[in-house]
Amino acid sequence: MKIYCEKDYEAMSRRAAGILGAQVILKPDSVLGLATGSSPEGTYRELIRRYEAGELDFSKVTSVNLDEYKGLSGENDQSYRYFMNTNFFDHVNIDKSRTFVPDGLAEDSDKACAAYNAIIRREGPVDLQLLGLGYNGHIGFNEPAAIFEKETHCVDLTASTIEANKRFFEKEEDVPRQAYTMGIGNIMQAKKILILVSGEGKADIVAEAFCGPVTPKVPASILQFHSDVTLVGDEAALSKLMERLNK
Ligand code: GLP
Repeated sequence: MKIYCEKDYEAMSRRAAGILGAQVILKPDSVLGLATGSSPEGTYRELIRRYEAGELDFSKVTSVNLDEYKGLSGENDQSYRYFMNTNFFDHVNIDKSRTFVPDGLAEDSDKACAAYNAIIRREGPVDLQLLGLGYNGHIGFNEPAAIFEKETHCVDLTASTIEANKRFFEKEEDVPRQAYTMGIGNIMQAKKILILVSGEGKADIVAEAFCGPVTPKVPASILQFHSDVTLVGDEAALSKLMERLNK
C-alpha cells in the first residue's frame, strides 16, 4: 500500500486529483469507480479546475458509482446521483449517459441489484476506484457485518451511519434507512483503489482498518488484501496509523 500523508484537506484533495487525473491522461477511456461524501468533494473541485484549465478531458471516461439511497430519485438533492451531477458531472465534459449510479427508485431490490451488477460487469473492470471511509469502517455502504457481501446489495444502514449522514438532511427522520451499494467483491475487482480520509475523527478507524485484523466487522480492512491501494489522508486522519506503523 502507498500512503500519502498530506498537511490538510486541500493538499489531500490536490494529491487525489493528481492521481485520478494521471489515470485519465494515461488511459482516456478509463472506467472510474466514484464515491460521494465530504472526503472527495475537494478532489472533484480540483479535477474541475484542471478540466477548466484544459489539462483534463473526460469525454471518453465511464463512471460507476458505489452507492445510492433507496427511495430517493436522482432529482432529490440528497441523492448520490444529484451529488455527482452537481459536484462533478455538470462541470466537466463527461458523457452523462456513461455515468452509472444505482437506481434509488427501483422498488424490487433484487432486480435493482442484479441490474447494477450487470452494468459493472459490462462496463468493468474498474480501472481506479475512489473510496471514502465511514466512521464504522464502511466502504460504499458496506456496513460492519458477519460476512463480506460480494456483489451489489440492499443494506439497512446502521445507527452510526445514519448519525454521521444526518448532517446533510433537515432532520434525522429524513435519512433513508436503506441503500443500494456495490459489494466488497465488486470493489476488490477494481485494478487500483484510491481511498481518502480526512479529519481527526477518522484516525482510530484508519489505524484499525489498515493495521487491525481483516474482518467484515471493519469492512475496509479487506483492502489489506488488495494489491494496489493508495491511501491519501491529512495528518489528522493518518496520525494513529502512522504511530502504529512506526512502532
Ligand atoms: C457515506 C458514503 C460512503 C462514504 C462515507 C464517508 O455514508 N456512503 O461512500 O465514503 O460515508 O463519508 P465522508 O467522506 O463524508 O466522511
